[in-house]
Amino acid sequence: MLYKLKELENDARSTIEGAKDLEELKSIKVQYLGKKGELTGILRSLGSVPAEERPVIGQKANALRQELERAVELKEKSLKDLQRQDIWEEERIDVTLPGRPAAIGQRHPLTMIIDEIKDIFTGLGFQLAYGPDIETDYYNFEALNIPADHPARDMQDSFYITEQYLLRTHTSPVQIRSMEKQAPKLPVRIICLGKVYRRDDDATHSPMFHQCEGLVVDRDITFADLKGTLDLFAREMFGPDQRVRFRPSFFPFTEPSAEVDISCIMCGGKGCRTCSYTGWLEILGSGMVHPRVLEIAGYNPGEVTGFAFGMGIERIAMLKYGIGDLRLFFSNDLRFLKQFS
Ligand code: DAH
Repeated sequence: MLYKLKELENDARSTIEGAKDLEELKSIKVQYLGKKGELTGILRSLGSVPAEERPVIGQKANALRQELERAVELKEKSLKDLQRQDIWEEERIDVTLPGRPAAIGQRHPLTMIIDEIKDIFTGLGFQLAYGPDIETDYYNFEALNIPADHPARDMQDSFYITEQYLLRTHTSPVQIRSMEKQAPKLPVRIICLGKVYRRDDDATHSPMFHQCEGLVVDRDITFADLKGTLDLFAREMFGPDQRVRFRPSFFPFTEPSAEVDISCIMCGGKGCRTCSYTGWLEILGSGMVHPRVLEIAGYNPGEVTGFAFGMGIERIAMLKYGIGDLRLFFSNDLRFLKQFS
C-alpha cells in the first residue's frame, strides 16, 4: 500500500507539473483529488488494510493529499502569472512608435467674429460686461422704456418662461445692469456680447442668435462720439475704405435714434444683389441714451449723456464671409466649419 502511495505521488506530481493551462490543471485535480479521484480511492479502501498498518498509511495518505493540493495551488498561480505575462506582451506599448498627432480644432466662425469685435472695442477702452440669458420683464423691457403694448412684449413674439421671466430678446438689458452696478461712477464704457432669443426661424433669422451691445455714459458725450466710434469699428472690421451712414430711426431707449449702414462690401457701393442695388447694408441700431433710461439706471440726465448701439453678430459674419444662410452657423457641418481655418 505504501508503495502504491509513493507511485501515486510521483505520478501526480509530474502530471501537475506538466499541466499546460488552467483548464487542464482543473481536470488533473479532479483526477487525483476529486470525490472519485485516485487518492480518495486509496483512503476509501483503508478498511481492507491490516489494522496495525492503518494509522501509518492513513497519515501518509492525508499528508499526501495536503501536499498535492498545495502543488496544484502553486501550479495554478504560476499558470496565471504566465497568462498575465502573455497579455502584457500583447498589449505592451511600443514607446519607439511615432505618436499620433492630436487633431487640433479651430474656432467657430462666430467665435472668430466675437473675438475680433472684442479686440476692437477693448482697444478703445471698453470693458466686457455680461448679463443673464434668462432675463426679467423689467430689465428686458420696462427699464428700457419699452411700452407694454410693444410687439416684442407679446407672449407670441418672445420666449416667456413665466409672465415675469423670459429669454432676453436683445443684449440691451445689460446696459441697465451695467449702469446700476456702477452708478453714479463715471465713465460707463462697456460692450456685451452674448446670445439672444426670438421666435423667428428662416434663412436670415434663427430663434437663437448673438448680439453685441455697446454703451458709453459720461459727461459731454455727443452724437459725434457715437459716429466716430462706429466709423472706426466699421473700418477695423471690414477694411479701411468702409464708409458709414446714419439714418434716422426709432428705439424706445434712445433719443435720437439711428440705424447704421456700411457701404456694401460686395460691390463697394455701386449697387448689387446683396445690397438690393442701394449700395448700403444695414448693420446696427444706435442712438443717444434716452434720459428716462439714464435716470432709471441711477444717473442724472441733467449731468451726463450717453450713446448706445446694438448689432447682430451673425449678420456681421455673413457679410464679412459672404455666407448666404444663417442656419449654417448652427448645423455643425464640418464641410462648412473647416473653411474658416
Ligand atoms: N436692442 C435693439 C434690437 O435688438 C438694438 C439696439 C438699437 C440696441 C439701438 C441699442 C440701440 O443699444 O441704441 O433691435
